[in-house]
Amino acid sequence: MKITYYGQSCFLFEIGENRVLFDPFISPNELASSINVDDIKADYILLSHGHQDHVHDAEQIAKNNNSTIVANFEIVTWYGNKGIEKLHPMNTGGKVTLPFGTVKMVNAIHSSSLPDGSYGGSAAGFVVETEDKTFYFAGDTALTYDMKLIPEQFDVDFAVLPIGDNFTMDIHDAMLAADFVQVDKVIGMHYDTFPYIQIDHEEVQEVAKMADKELILMEIGQTINL
Ligand code: NI
Ligand code: MN
Repeated sequence: MKITYYGQSCFLFEIGENRVLFDPFISPNELASSINVDDIKADYILLSHGHQDHVHDAEQIAKNNNSTIVANFEIVTWYGNKGIEKLHPMNTGGKVTLPFGTVKMVNAIHSSSLPDGSYGGSAAGFVVETEDKTFYFAGDTALTYDMKLIPEQFDVDFAVLPIGDNFTMDIHDAMLAADFVQVDKVIGMHYDTFPYIQIDHEEVQEVAKMADKELILMEIGQTINL
């Protein structure tokens, strides 16, 4: 599968014919000024929780592409009120099979409110099982023993984990999370966008090396094949 990074926690996964976008926060992100939101094509937009730094561009991209928004019931209802027609509501613990694979909504230890202050339901992560690879997109979360449940049910190939600290796990907790999920390959997210979450790239790579993990820090706009 092809993975393109758009900064903060926003990734586009190209899975077969399907384009699946996670947590779009692009236009307010100074680090992502090279990315034009209107150039992004997405069939599905998965939202981990309601915070601005995960949903800011979801409405525009969904309207541009007639995308389906997949999120918890509260977030999906909020987008329905904004005129988005293709919506799939879920909640923690549930799964759904979509054309690109099976999506399970899993627990995240975090908060969730929408940009206008509306209740955003519970924060979540996603495990996505496709014919090609299976991956865990953690969203914003603390380290939690709940992550140990994931490899009980899935053979995960890689995990996309927050490493920026302050609002989420830091690199040390993310390495423990990778152990809990039983993966050796981690794509980092949720770092550098704001002063609170700036990281030293060499330092986090050193921590990953000591933990025997491959840590991938993508450039914004970069596409990799996994
Ligand atoms: Ni958040
Ligand atoms: Mn966040």
